[in-house]
Amino acid sequence: MKRLGVNIDHVATLRNARGEFHPDPVYAAKFAKKLGADSITIHLREDRRHIKDIDAKKICSVKNLLVNLEISIRDEIVKNALKIKPNFICLVPENRKEITTEGGLDLKRNEKKIKKIIKLFKKNNIRTSLFINPTQRDVLMSRNFGADCVELHTGKFANLVKLKKDIKKEFYRIKKSSKFAEKIGLEVHAGHGLDFKSTKYLCKIKEIKEFNIGHFIIGESIFFGLKKVLVQFKKIIR
Ligand code: PXP
Repeated sequence: MKRLGVNIDHVATLRNARGEFHPDPVYAAKFAKKLGADSITIHLREDRRHIKDIDAKKICSVKNLLVNLEISIRDEIVKNALKIKPNFICLVPENRKEITTEGGLDLKRNEKKIKKIIKLFKKNNIRTSLFINPTQRDVLMSRNFGADCVELHTGKFANLVKLKKDIKKEFYRIKKSSKFAEKIGLEVHAGHGLDFKSTKYLCKIKEIKEFNIGHFIIGESIFFGLKKVLVQFKKIIR
C-alpha cells in the first residue's frame, strides 16, 4: 500500500496572512491524521514564511504522529531540525526568491555537506531522504551519500498533466529512476505539484511507496469544505 504524506504548510500560510491563530497547523496535523494521513510533512523554510519553529516543535510532539520535516542544508536550519526532533527529514534545495521548491538538490555541488548531514541525522535515528530530480545519476549519488530514501521531484510531470501535454517521456524517467532506486536499496517517494490526475498516473509505478502532497490538498479542501461552513453560517444567522 502506498502512503500519503500530507503537507500542511499552506494552513500556516493562511494563518500567517491574518497574523492570528486560525487556521491552526497543529490542529490540521492532528485532523489530517484522523482522516487517514500516514504522515505529516512540514517545510521549515529559511524565511519561515509559513511553518514557524514553534509550529514544528508542537507538531513533532503530538503523540503517535509521524512527521517528515523538509529543510535546506544550511547549518542554522540543520541545527534547528535536531532540536525539533522529527521522525523523518527530507533535504531540499532552497532559493530565497522561489515561490516553491523548483527542482531537486544539486548533489554534486553539495556532496561533502550532504554526506555530513546524513551521518548526523543517522546518529540521531532520523530517516533521511533527498529531494532529487528523477535521474539515475542522482539516485545513485543519493545511495552513495548514505540516504535512506529519495523523493523524486514530480513538478515537471505534474505540469505536463495539467497542460494536457505528452507525459510519456517524463513518466518513463520517473519510472526508470524509481525502479533503479529500489534495486539499489532506496525507498522511493514522490512529490511536488501533484493533483488527483497526476497522482493516479504515478500510482502505476509500484516502486513509489510514499507521496507527499500539499498545495492541491489544501486548495481543493476549500471547495470540499465550503458547503459545510456556509450552511453552518446560514443556520447561525437565520
Ligand atoms: N515534497 C517536497 C520535497 C516539497 O518541497 C514539496 C513542496 O514543499 C512537496 C513535496 C509538496 O508539493 P506541493 O505543495 O506542490 O504538493
